[in-house]
Amino acid sequence: MKILGIETSCDETAAAIVEDGYKLISNVVATSMLEHAKYGGIVPEIAARSHIESIIPVIDDCMKQAGLDFKNLDGIAVTYGAGLGGSLLVGVETAKTLAISKNLPLYAINHVEGHVYANFLTDTDIDNLVMAKQQPEFPMLALIVSGGHSQIAYFRDHFDYTLLGQTSDDAVGEAFDKVAKLLGLPYPGGPNIEIAAKDGDPNKYILPKARLSGKYDFSFSGLKTAVLRLAQAEVGKSYDFPSFELSGLLSERQKADISASFLKTSIETLVDKVVMAESEFSPKTVVIAGGVAANSELRKQLSARLHTKLQYPDFKLCTDNGAMIAALGCFKAIHKQETSDPYNLQINPNLSM
Ligand code: KG4
Ligand code: ZN
Repeated sequence: MKILGIETSCDETAAAIVEDGYKLISNVVATSMLEHAKYGGIVPEIAARSHIESIIPVIDDCMKQAGLDFKNLDGIAVTYGAGLGGSLLVGVETAKTLAISKNLPLYAINHVEGHVYANFLTDTDIDNLVMAKQQPEFPMLALIVSGGHSQIAYFRDHFDYTLLGQTSDDAVGEAFDKVAKLLGLPYPGGPNIEIAAKDGDPNKYILPKARLSGKYDFSFSGLKTAVLRLAQAEVGKSYDFPSFELSGLLSERQKADISASFLKTSIETLVDKVVMAESEFSPKTVVIAGGVAANSELRKQLSARLHTKLQYPDFKLCTDNGAMIAALGCFKAIHKQETSDPYNLQINPNLSM
């Protein structure tokens, strides 16, 4: 069972082939990240144009790396939501065309569910990828954290899960990106906050953890605003001082301390909820997924506080990729889940879990 996975929901144009839901045969990711960096965040029009330029070369490359022809494939899986409309369209229309012209079944994949399945990849001949030794066992608790999502879900089995909670405003990755921008650190914020925080004191500033009525829900917009107010106060300015002028006034020490304090609070907020869900649901495995799952502090705090086995993907498979989409596509095919009509599949930018 070999499935080609196509992912274009944000700024990565990605394609991969996975065999039987565990073996990654080829994996190609082209990113337009550098084109967005100067704007401090993703510009949807730039992302969409870049997907159009990259999608065919990326799929070609992926097929060549695998040494396969389309007739060797058993299906095509594609992200149809959630994501940026213009970006999703490029992947979905390409996948539909391929499914029709190569006469292959088409599997429509929810991007957030896809992230979880990066944890099911356990084998590859591709260099520099560290795979988990075994697939996660059910019941499984999943924390999905990225620039677009912050969710906790409880999986009883494949295709049988309950969403326990999610963010009511910003995703945690977005908070990393916005705080980084305020401090004058480059995009993407997550890795750059981690670097800046290394020289900082995580206990220098007390930042708020949001309390919400939904036990497992998150909110990160208050934390983001608290960092803005803190930075304004640190340089002796009032709340109407423009955020884009702050980084020039903050010292390197202040930036490091703010980064470290923000990192501590944001990660603790995530970890507190996972620990609470662990004690309520007693899962056999806890997995983390999404761009923020690359964060070392998150991995460290979870390893220290959980009693359950913790799994996470290789750093390269935490951020958006085609491998996770192909892996979930394989499970859909193996479990005889419904296929999509390649003449009718529509994107759904607001798709939820
Ligand atoms: O999964 P992803 O590639 O795209 C979305 O689906 O959103 O995640 C990108 C997000 C960005 O917000 C980025 O700042 C964050 O993941 N990120 C990190 C780290 N690496 C990437 N956040 C915290 N620590 C990291 N090391
Ligand atoms: Zn993602």
